[in-house]
Amino acid sequence: MAESPDNEKTTSLLDFLAEEHCKFRCVLEALEADMAQSEELARLRIRDRLFLLLPVLDRHEELEVLIFERSPFAGMEGSRDLIDQTRAQHRDIACLRADILGALEFDDDCPFPVLSDLTKVLIDSLRWHLDSEENTLWPHYRACVSRSLDQTLTSQLHRDIEIIEEDLTRGAVSLHDGRY
Ligand SMILES: [Fe+2]
Ligand SMILES: [Fe+2]
Repeated sequence: MAESPDNEKTTSLLDFLAEEHCKFRCVLEALEADMAQSEELARLRIRDRLFLLLPVLDRHEELEVLIFERSPFAGMEGSRDLIDQTRAQHRDIACLRADILGALEFDDDCPFPVLSDLTKVLIDSLRWHLDSEENTLWPHYRACVSRSLDQTLTSQLHRDIEIIEEDLTRGAVSLHDGRY
């Protein structure tokens, strides 16, 4: 059931996703700074940072599935290809995550260049993915989702959004709490 677009639209769900993307980009920058530290310190910081980032990233993707794949947006003209593209990117990132979590599990046994290379690939892939969503999926959502549907989805997903906001706030605090 697709709704016809209104002339006047709000993009409250996209505003929320944009805030999250902004916070993810801050974490990616922090990871790059971590990698410039001595190996011992870098390993510690990357580990803490990724243990913070990866679960929040999971919830962000779950929310994207609800917004784009399990809503009327999925049935709108032109949505399917963009959804498939995004899903493929999520799959690639999930593989990388598994590799990194495997490396972190072995901690000191994992050679630092391996952890560092995996982290660099994750940073590049995530940046590319964030840009891709912002430049393809979001404009399509803006163009075809009506204000009323956006508002309905926002209220349906209210609790999911609150949980992610709490996680991100905790994450932002631990990024700036002086530990580093
Ligand atoms: Fe995504
Ligand atoms: Fe996203």
